[in-house]
Amino acid sequence: MLTLLANLPLPVTPSVLPDGYAVREMDREDLEAVGRLYFEANEPGVACATLGEAVDDIVASFDGEYGEFWFEASPVVLHGDDPVAAVMTVRRAPWDDVPDCPFIIELFTDRAHRRQGLACHLITSAAETIRSAGETAVALRVDAANGPARRLYGSLGFAVFSGTDGRGPTLLAPMS
Ligand SMILES: CC(C)(COP(=O)(O)OP(=O)(O)OC[C@H]1O[C@@H](n2cnc3c(N)ncnc32)[C@H](O)[C@@H]1OP(=O)(O)O)[C@@H](O)C(=O)NCCC(=O)NCCS
Repeated sequence: MLTLLANLPLPVTPSVLPDGYAVREMDREDLEAVGRLYFEANEPGVACATLGEAVDDIVASFDGEYGEFWFEASPVVLHGDDPVAAVMTVRRAPWDDVPDCPFIIELFTDRAHRRQGLACHLITSAAETIRSAGETAVALRVDAANGPARRLYGSLGFAVFSGTDGRGPTLLAPMS
């Protein structure tokens, strides 16, 4: 796993969504739909083994198991009434080895709706909300083998986080 970090503002602002799509804040009533999306968007076994586990994991996220869930910085893209892409953000992640800043814990787009800029729109929108709250950076984790996600994050200004030097500054390496 790589931890990536981007300083805010990102170099990219949210693009206009394609026709037929809309974006809004996630809320608790999205639980089942977002759980299903999370389950179906990931390769079998990568995120969760069953739909039930996926829904349970979304419940755990909402309930703060991965840090205080930040609904306003967790937009969802709708196609009609259906969520088809989502980003999930916490105010701080609970792990020792990550930067002290807001953290994107999940990002996923339905397979039938990919390569239309939905994930890009979600990350850039979330980043604007995070910055508006006075934060100066955002971080996330990505599997080193996840080429599509790495390319997306690299295009949005994320770089590999390698820790701090003890005096405060964050050490970053460019995405390869
Ligand atoms: C990664 C993921 C969220 C991308 O969603 P998406 O809505 O299709 O992404 P976008 O359309 O916003 O892509 C923006 C850019 O990212 C890069 N990208 C996205 N998918 C790519 C792919 N399959 N191959 C190569 N580059 C890709 C491209 O640079 C793309 O721009 P382009 O289409 O103009 O070339 C989606 O593939 C997904 O849900 N994967 C499974 C879950 C996952 O891996 N999540 C990330 C966890 S860290």
